[in-house]
Amino acid sequence: MTNLRVILAGATGWAGSAVARGIARSGDMRLVGAVARKAAGRTLAAVLGDEPALAAPVHATAAQALTMPCDVFVEFTKPESAKANIRAALTAGAHVVVGTSGLGDEDYAEIDALARERNCGVLACGNFALTVVLLQRFAETAARYLDHFEIIDYAHEDKPDAPSGTARELAYRLGLVKSPDPGVPLEQVRGPREARGAALSGVQVHSVRLPGYVIGVEAIFGAPGQRLHIAHHAGASAEPYVDGTLLAIRKVGTLIGVHRGLDSVMDL
Ligand SMILES: NC(=O)c1ccc[n+]([C@@H]2O[C@H](COP(=O)([O-])OP(=O)(O)OC[C@H]3O[C@@H](n4cnc5c(N)ncnc54)[C@H](OP(=O)(O)O)[C@@H]3O)[C@@H](O)[C@H]2O)c1
Repeated sequence: MTNLRVILAGATGWAGSAVARGIARSGDMRLVGAVARKAAGRTLAAVLGDEPALAAPVHATAAQALTMPCDVFVEFTKPESAKANIRAALTAGAHVVVGTSGLGDEDYAEIDALARERNCGVLACGNFALTVVLLQRFAETAARYLDHFEIIDYAHEDKPDAPSGTARELAYRLGLVKSPDPGVPLEQVRGPREARGAALSGVQVHSVRLPGYVIGVEAIFGAPGQRLHIAHHAGASAEPYVDGTLLAIRKVGTLIGVHRGLDSVMDL
């Protein structure tokens, strides 16, 4: 599709504002609406700067924004609002790109059913950075050969959700490859079970929340006498997430139902 019409929820936020500027620069898509509560009633340009391509109106809710026809709805708000926004967009017949973290496997199963009913695509990616997409792919390959693996999720101390969307998605994808061998079965662990992390999609995930971290994830694979670490760490800018999100916007119209991970539309 050319000149895609996009509504961006969370357009005034840390990630959303970088994505909004990326869309404004893109040349093949345009913002027809934005969603954010505090800036509602203004234009995005009035909030983010005076780029002419950011003239889209900001609405307080997705339902209000969706009165404007759009091809793709992009979700970058918060886990509490994301699912309702996605449902509203699918009901309006829009394809959806999900950047917001915090939705689980059950949420996505429900969203998948609605997307298929509406003949729409949903491309959800807990992390649109290219280095994370590569990490996912490399870790899936390692999981085919190695039976013991766990995930560590690193983030700043005030990140409210745990594990991160990136770690959830990695667990989901590795869990599809195989159920790792936990060593001592979890129900036989002596001491607090939490010490072994949370089981997501059958994979143990450990979330570290400390000042000094921005966001990172590590898959650790163990085998007798050897260990493999595959790690990603991002800095403070939201720029790594822009190109991947724009690629997802361009490709989501070719999909039906929920697809998780950007590599589902990449030739890797
Ligand atoms: N997939 C990726 O690559 C990626 C990268 C970075 C971040 N993320 C995820 O994206 C999400 C946003 O992160 P962020 O750091 O950008 O957050 P943020 O800076 O707090 O921005 C949140 C945005 O959503 C809006 N918002 C929040 N609640 C809303 C509601 N109920 N209704 C309408 N608008 C609402 C906020 O505006 P108002 O408060 O004015 O409503 C703001 O525009 C998080 O889940 C984060 O984990 C994903």
